[in-house]
Amino acid sequence: AGRAPVIAVDGPAAAGKGTLARRLAAALGLPHLDTGLLYRAVGRRMLDRGADPRDAVLAEAEARALTEADLGRPDLRGPEVDMAASAVAAIPAVRAALLDWQRGFARGRGAVLDGRDIGTVVFPDATVKLYVDASPEERARRRLLELRARGVAADPDQVLSEVLARDAQDRNRAAAPLRPAPDAIVLDTTGLDADAAFARALAIVRERLRSAG
Ligand code: CDP
Ligand code: CDP
Repeated sequence: AGRAPVIAVDGPAAAGKGTLARRLAAALGLPHLDTGLLYRAVGRRMLDRGADPRDAVLAEAEARALTEADLGRPDLRGPEVDMAASAVAAIPAVRAALLDWQRGFARGRGAVLDGRDIGTVVFPDATVKLYVDASPEERARRRLLELRARGVAADPDQVLSEVLARDAQDRNRAAAPLRPAPDAIVLDTTGLDADAAFARALAIVRERLRSAG
């Protein structure tokens, strides 16, 4: 009892993890970390230097050189960075370099973290583990709307195939593959809007926090 809560929000691409984690954090008064930004920033640095994002030696060096400022860059979204992030994320040395950052973020104060392996690897003892999912078609639709809102013209079929390709890469890698932790609560948000998903998640989290004392 009394331990600062750590809430893990994992799931596939464009499932609504970030939106949900941000709202949970605000409701619970906890800090929020979108861990995908760490991998995006490393992928971005690899693209900037014209390197192959699968180059393990260079990618590890970029992961170790990451600063807070990298995470605030405006150019961390879009299909090119999506795939570069997923490529560097498959490299064990990159994942290892980012582990202390993620753990330190929650130390002493708790946090809501969203990503792929928060409940399986980063915080296997998290107070609450949510695995947020939705059908690939619905997730692709959400990503398409986001792109359009940013003024980016995108082809729906292409967005869907990019989502499927990235999920396959994230699920099939050897290092911290995307999968629900055995003790995660799966929240299927297909057909739920962001408000409905948040209401369900908050009820689950509050119940767990009560029983965790
Ligand atoms: O972090 P992740 O890539 O999983 O998703 P996100 O960045 O939170 O984006 C999800 C998008 O889908 C946002 O534009 C949300 O408004 C929308 N959305 C959602 O988050 N949850 C739903 N249940 C339905 C839609
Ligand atoms: O928002 P979206 O779901 O599209 O992606 P993201 O959460 O920003 O993550 C981008 C990529 O980083 C993913 O496709 C994963 O390969 C990787 N990632 C990871 O391996 N582990 C995490 N904890 C978070 C992201």
